[in-house]
Amino acid sequence: MDFSLSEEHLMIRDAARDFAKTELLPGVVERDNKQEFPTEQVKKMGELGFLGMMVDPKYGGGGMDTVSYVLAMEELSKVDASCSVIVSVNNSLVCYGLEAYGTEAQKQKYLTKLATGQSIGAFCLSEPEAGSDATSQRTTAIDKGDHYVLNGTKNWITNGNSADFYLVIAQTDKEKKHKGINAFIVEKSWEGFEVGPKEDKLGIRGSDTHTLNFNDVKVPKENRIGDDGFGFKFAMKTLSGGRIGIAAQALGIAAGAYDLAREYSKVRKTFGTEICNHQAIAFKLADMHTSIEAARLLVMKAAWDKDQGNNYDMSGAMAKLYASQVAMDVSVEAVQVHGGNGFVKEYHVERMMRDAKITQIYEGTSEIQKMVISRGLLRD
Ligand code: CAA
Repeated sequence: MDFSLSEEHLMIRDAARDFAKTELLPGVVERDNKQEFPTEQVKKMGELGFLGMMVDPKYGGGGMDTVSYVLAMEELSKVDASCSVIVSVNNSLVCYGLEAYGTEAQKQKYLTKLATGQSIGAFCLSEPEAGSDATSQRTTAIDKGDHYVLNGTKNWITNGNSADFYLVIAQTDKEKKHKGINAFIVEKSWEGFEVGPKEDKLGIRGSDTHTLNFNDVKVPKENRIGDDGFGFKFAMKTLSGGRIGIAAQALGIAAGAYDLAREYSKVRKTFGTEICNHQAIAFKLADMHTSIEAARLLVMKAAWDKDQGNNYDMSGAMAKLYASQVAMDVSVEAVQVHGGNGFVKEYHVERMMRDAKITQIYEGTSEIQKMVISRGLLRD
C-alpha cells in the first residue's frame, strides 16, 4: 500500500492551492455577502483547466485522474466553497455525464465547450416533489417523433443562471416509472426555457441557485442522452461520481476551517498564554485533525476506486456521508476556537460553517447516502 502522492498530483494540488490563495481569497467575504457569482474567477478556472479536469484532451480536457480532481477540489474548497461547487458540478456531473454516456456529436458540440470553460453546465434532476425521491419526476418529455417537448419545473439548480447547457431529467412514459425517464441536453437560448428566481441561501452564496421552468421546450431527439429510458440510470451513475466531488468539497471546508483555527490558536492569548496551550483548545485541534485525516482517506479511496475501474457507489457515498459530517463538526469547532471573532465575517470560519451544511444535503442527503450504503451492504 502506497499513501504517497505522485509528482503530478503534488503539482496539481499546489497549483490549486496557489490559485485559491491568490484568486479566490480576495473578495470571498464580499461575494458571500452580496450573493455575487464569481464570474472572473470562473473564467480563470476555465483557462487553467479546472473546469474539465478529467475530460479526455481530445475534447479539450485535462485528461487527469479522479485523485487529481479531488486534490484540486479540496484546495479550492478550503477557501471558497461557492467556487468549488461550480467546479464540481461542471466536472463530475456535466462533463463526466456527457463524456461517459453522450454521443460523439454531443461531445463535439457541447463537451468541448464545457471542458474548456467556454460554457458552464448545470445538472437538473431535483423538483419540488422529487428531491430525495428522484424517481418521482413531474417534468415531462413527450415524444413527438423527431423531437421531445419538455414541460415542468426544476428546483435548487446550481449554476441555474450562469450555465449555458443544462442536463435535464424528465419523464417520457409514466407507466414505465423510472424506466420511462430520459435525460436531455437543453440550451439556455431555446424558446420556452426560463430561468426562475434565484434562491437566497444560508451558504455557498456566491454560487447561483435557481428554479428553472420549461414551457413547451422543443428538444431535438439527438439531444437525448443514451437509449430511450436510460435517464434515471444516467442520473444515478453520474451522481455516484458527483458525490466524490462533494465529499472532497466537504473535506476542503473542514481542512480550511481547521487551518484557520490552528493559526488563530497560536496567536490569540487568554490567561497569559496562547490559547493552543490550553488543553481545551489543543484537544479540539487533535480531534479536528484526526477526523479530517479519516475523511481524507475515505475521499481518496473513493477517487482511487473510480480510477481503478472499481465500483464506487458505496465508497463515494461513505466518503460524502462522513466528510460532510466532519465539515459540519470541524467548522462549528473552528468558530468556537475563534470565540467572538468566529462570529464575525472577516475571520471566514462562520462562512465555512454555513457552507458546510449544504454538503449534507446536495447530491443526495446524508440519509440518502445511508440508503445507498445499506442497500449495497445487504445486496448479496
Ligand atoms: N448506478 C446505476 N443504477 C442505479 C444506481 C446507480 N448508482 N442506483 C440505482 N440504480 C438503478 C437501480 O438498479 C434500479 O434499476 P432497475 O430497476 O433496472 O434495477 C433503478 O435505478 C431504481 O433504483 P432504486 O429502486 O434503488 O430507486 P429508489 O427510488 O429506491 O431511489 C435513490 C434510489 C438512491 C434513493 C435515488 O432516488 C437517489 O439517489 N436519490 C437522491 C437524489 C439526489 O442525489 N439528488 C441530488 C440532486 S443533484 C444535485 O444536488 C446537484 C447540484 O446542483 C449540486
